[in-house]
Amino acid sequence: TLAALFGVLVGSFLLGSIPWGVIISRCFYHKDVREVGSGNIGTTNAMRAMGKVGGSAVFVLDFGKGVVSGLAALALARALVAWDPEGCTAFVALMLGDAQQAQAAATTAASNNYLVMLFTSAAFLGCILGHVFSPWLGFKGGKGIAVAAGCLMATFGPVGGLLEIAVFAVVVAATRYVSAGSIAAAAVCPLFALYYCWDNVPAWACCAMGAVVVVWAHRGNIGRLRAGCERRIGSSKGEKE
Ligand code: G3P
Repeated sequence: TLAALFGVLVGSFLLGSIPWGVIISRCFYHKDVREVGSGNIGTTNAMRAMGKVGGSAVFVLDFGKGVVSGLAALALARALVAWDPEGCTAFVALMLGDAQQAQAAATTAASNNYLVMLFTSAAFLGCILGHVFSPWLGFKGGKGIAVAAGCLMATFGPVGGLLEIAVFAVVVAATRYVSAGSIAAAAVCPLFALYYCWDNVPAWACCAMGAVVVVWAHRGNIGRLRAGCERRIGSSKGEKE
């Protein structure tokens, strides 16, 4: 199981490290996204460099990296342990009046769920690290928001993932700063993780570390927000900072 967990971390790191923003901008737009606007390789700056089509393509591919690594971790964890959705074996045993089997099945379901959560949150951390410290870009990279959103769908499930996206959307709508939405979504991630895996310290730690990396990757944005010179949505296309 430890070897599989290590495999999840390495595999998601490698998947996360694919720099789609650079690949798309260079292959299809004959420019480098890193030489435009904030210099970031993610969706927001890809929109500045390539417009809506190129920017959306980068979002889908980056988001996809997160989804694929999260789902692969989920599949691997479920291949290692018998899948018992919501502890249904325990429920059936309880309904049949077999309290002993219900207790045993509930314990198994809880430990299976522990492993699934651990694997998906390891994928979350690995994918963000790969994206932010891509070996193909000299261990530089993006800010991890799209990959984090994709991977959270597998870690927290669709409801938790969509709630995270809702936090992002509300803050962006209120401030018109994409970076403020990203930082807010990252900041609430450890709180969401507390709800989903409060009893799973390693999984919570992976979620919290991923969130810290995302906020750290936004340190330039934080400086600009504090100085009042961060770009708002729609005021884009500027020269490279
Ligand atoms: O997810 C990236 C976004 O939060 C900020 O992008 O290019 O404005 O630094 P950018």
